[in-house]
Amino acid sequence: MNYTVMIPAAGSGKRMGAGYNKLFLKLGAQPIFIHTLKVFEDDPACEGIILAVKQEERPEIEAILTRFGISKVRAIVEGGTERQYSVAACIRAHTEAGIVLVHDAARPFIRRAVIAELVSQANIHGAAIAGVKAKDTMKLAPNGLVEKTIDREQLWIVQTPQAFQYDVLKKAAEEAEKDHFLGTDEAMLVERMGLPVRMVEGTYENVKMTTQEDLVFGEILLSRVQEEEKE
Ligand code: C5P
Repeated sequence: MNYTVMIPAAGSGKRMGAGYNKLFLKLGAQPIFIHTLKVFEDDPACEGIILAVKQEERPEIEAILTRFGISKVRAIVEGGTERQYSVAACIRAHTEAGIVLVHDAARPFIRRAVIAELVSQANIHGAAIAGVKAKDTMKLAPNGLVEKTIDREQLWIVQTPQAFQYDVLKKAAEEAEKDHFLGTDEAMLVERMGLPVRMVEGTYENVKMTTQEDLVFGEILLSRVQEEEKE
């Protein structure tokens, strides 16, 4: 089943400490965001990419897209001061019914099998999000004092992609904007409307490149992906 992907890439990546947008940092020979875009460029089910960027970075990003042969970008919109606003700009640029994915440009290690499952589940339930089970013991400790241990079997660490029927995402984003509600992911906007969101088991390698340590891990993951491609 086909889908369109919205990719927010308009952050500043302060926690990376690079002094500029971390998405330009290289993993292997390519900028982080090109690795991410290539997953969708190479997926036959992906019909198009909508990218949110900072206005001042647009020329450089356009040049990099051309240099690395990314041809599926249908629109480049101006991102906002918060990630949710960048995604909202993508939603405004898209009007077609069908399944849409939202995926962070900073997560280059997403697998095509997980994308396919998300698309299929969103088609059935309206919304489906990728996540992994918590590996460690989880405790609720407000102000540093343990209140209780939480059953980790029921806890998920949530990632992107998050997949939606377009109407569901559009309505949820409009309601959030009207109510000045700021969430940390798109699923929160759907949850607050009382609509179902299905969890899809992703992979632990789908990390968000956030700090310098993630880049070290990213280089190792990249060599593994490249080995697999050779097989
Ligand atoms: O900063 P963080 O890595 O959590 O951001 C997740 C994704 O959202 C990144 O790909 C980043 O570029 C994007 N983002 C955005 N607009 C913002 C903040 C973040 O498009 N205002």
